[in-house]
Amino acid sequence: MSKKHPLVKEILIDNDQIKKRSKELATEISNHYKSQNIADNTVLLVGLLKGCIPFMAEFMNNFDYECDTDYMVMSSYGGGTKAGANPKIVLDLNSDLKGRHILIIEDVIDSGLTLDFVKRYFYSREAADVKIVTLIDKPKQRKVELKPDWSGFEIGDEFLIGFGLDYQERLRNLPYVASCDIDKLKKWKW
Ligand code: IMP
Ligand code: MG
Repeated sequence: MSKKHPLVKEILIDNDQIKKRSKELATEISNHYKSQNIADNTVLLVGLLKGCIPFMAEFMNNFDYECDTDYMVMSSYGGGTKAGANPKIVLDLNSDLKGRHILIIEDVIDSGLTLDFVKRYFYSREAADVKIVTLIDKPKQRKVELKPDWSGFEIGDEFLIGFGLDYQERLRNLPYVASCDIDKLKKWKW
């Protein structure tokens, strides 16, 4: 077990669990694509920056299907601990999406508003198929009907930090996913 950061209330998913689950997901998803008849035999992996980085790295190490990668930056939170209603594209993809099979790689789905927007956007750019894998799903928090095709772990409604998840851009580098002490966090001197 990794050493606990002072802002951590409880480590909910440790690094070994994340590694094991990421590998399982990569194997399952590779098998899914192998079973499909994809014209160019290639999937476009789209990571939503910045939170996707640690999970996407674990995932890609174990993903056994031809792929190319692209990245997008979305904003919806405005840096706090509550979801904002208005997802916006901060940095768009370069790839041509027409006819592509896309797998979106996300750290966490909360209200679902961000991915609902992104998914529609990809289809509007004529993607053939858009699937979603998320490390963490908080299904109780949904404001729109959106289901990831694959998810690593389901969690209630707690605000989480670590393994890509941030509080005001900090704490993404923790090697585990944890709940945090919000009162302490708000007064914290970095
Ligand atoms: P949604 O649009 O509400 O589903 O929010 C998705 C985005 O909000 C994620 O990509 C994260 O960047 C952020 N987010 C949601 N829940 C958490 C959390 O518990 N900790 C940190 N960021 C979160
Ligand atoms: Mg994110």
